[in-house]
Amino acid sequence: MTIGQHATVAITSEHVRQQLQGAEPGHDWWHASRVWKHAIFLQKREGGDRELIELAALLHDVRDYKFEDGDTAAGPEAARLWLVSQGYPEDRAKAVAEIIAAINFRGPAGEELAKSLEHAVVQDADRLDALGAIGIARAFSYGGHFGREMLDPEIAPKLTMGTDAYRKSRSPTVNHFFEKLLLLRDRMLTETARELAAETHNFMLQFLTQFLAEFFAEEEPPESWAQLLREYHGDSHRQSR
Ligand code: ADP
Ligand code: NI
Repeated sequence: MTIGQHATVAITSEHVRQQLQGAEPGHDWWHASRVWKHAIFLQKREGGDRELIELAALLHDVRDYKFEDGDTAAGPEAARLWLVSQGYPEDRAKAVAEIIAAINFRGPAGEELAKSLEHAVVQDADRLDALGAIGIARAFSYGGHFGREMLDPEIAPKLTMGTDAYRKSRSPTVNHFFEKLLLLRDRMLTETARELAAETHNFMLQFLTQFLAEFFAEEEPPESWAQLLREYHGDSHRQSR
């Protein structure tokens, strides 16, 4: 790695800090910064081009589609243009944009494929930050930002949603745990991330058990919800396909 290229990571971290000022608290600089750290940790165990991994981790949520009216091209293109504007080689800027374009979750019934080792590492790093106490806080921050209900007992999680339905879904925040967050542990693309996810996955299950008990105050949670939670306990969640 040349000194010039190394400087791209440093200046990019400053750029991302500025770009994400005032962002929804679950997708702000602190999220990008944690994903950056997770990505470096995973890269040391799993390998891959470290510089591409660091740049993609830093830039992955700048102009994310969720905050751009569903436009999935804006983020990767913004990353590419930023890097090229810094004199970074075109082919490597394109490689960073391709990693970013590949990392969004594609729904409970969507496809999971590692496009490259670098993609696997950055996607897993992003997903590690969707779990545990931080994952819970981020989900409710996101739900609050978009005015979602926490839970509607009448609206069941939709486990068969493909990519389009998932991206358009406005389901309550608790449903998001069943539709995405509890599925992530078993969908990690690297062995290191799968191991790291075990504890934070279990913590979310504990949280949901407590949440449902408190939500239905003085009553038992409806059997459909209790049943759903039971299905996610145990070693492996049920397959959605
Ligand atoms: P991805 O693009 O793969 O979904 P991000 O890092 O951009 O990954 O953001 C994912 C995070 O955003 C989730 O982990 C969650 O915290 C929050 N989020 C996304 N959709 C929802 C939703 N429908 N309800 C609650 N939180 C959500
Ligand atoms: Ni992210």
